[in-house]
Amino acid sequence: MAEDVLTLTCTVPSKEAMTELGRRLAAVLKPGDLLLLYGALGAGKTTFVQGLAHGLGIEDTVVSPTFVLIQTYHGRVTLHHMDLYRLPPGEDLGFQEYVDDGAVVAVEWPESAEDFWPVERMVLSIDYGCDLDDRDASTDDIPTHDVYHPNVQLDDAHHPKVLAHDVHHHDVFTDTNNHPGSSIRRLSLSLVGKRYIERRAEFEKILKEVCDAHSRP
Ligand SMILES: Nc1ncnc2c1ncn2[C@@H]1O[C@H](COP(=O)(O)OP(=O)(O)OP(=O)(O)O)[C@@H](O)[C@H]1O
Ligand SMILES: [Mg+2]
Repeated sequence: MAEDVLTLTCTVPSKEAMTELGRRLAAVLKPGDLLLLYGALGAGKTTFVQGLAHGLGIEDTVVSPTFVLIQTYHGRVTLHHMDLYRLPPGEDLGFQEYVDDGAVVAVEWPESAEDFWPVERMVLSIDYGCDLDDRDASTDDIPTHDVYHPNVQLDDAHHPKVLAHDVHHHDVFTDTNNHPGSSIRRLSLSLVGKRYIERRAEFEKILKEVCDAHSRP
């Protein structure tokens, strides 16, 4: 039976807003919740998870693991943080066991393991460089996939992530952050299935409060 889907969207104007969003959403997450994070390199997935970890009472610093695909952090609630960019498609690392573990599971680059996730899930998509509400922001200098992909050796299919990180793509942000609108992210949160939809009011309230509080006058 097809699950119901409810999608909430908002504009996240800054890194700080993204972190706060993660931190606030952590308060309404439950053990066993699954969050799949989609977005291009540098979109802000790890930034969001850093806030999430903070909100779950985790004191360790969450980083984007390059060689370790799954990192577990212990706090008020345990967090399994996955980054599957380098996972060969179709390889199962025992994903169901992580989901059944009574932890929160946050997955960056979940595409390679598409078949292994339960249908009930939260899907967070982060877009940037397009669909901006801010009319003053020219999209010309806003980072897009093209900014990064020339630095990634796509012919080396198993290690593109390492190469992408080696070129310090975050430096690109430092340069482009001078440009108005460069830190704007368009975010959508889809709640798939009753497990999540029944908490819709809480999710909606947090998105609205954080995005409103951080948006420019
Ligand atoms: N609104 C924003 N939200 C999140 N990050 C932002 C925002 N504006 C600027 N940034 C910057 O963008 C970068 C996002 O990096 P981050 O590691 O979170 O991306 P990612 O999606 O996890 O990338 P990867 O696919 O390489 O793992 C950081 O340097 C952060 O400071
Ligand atoms: Mg990341």
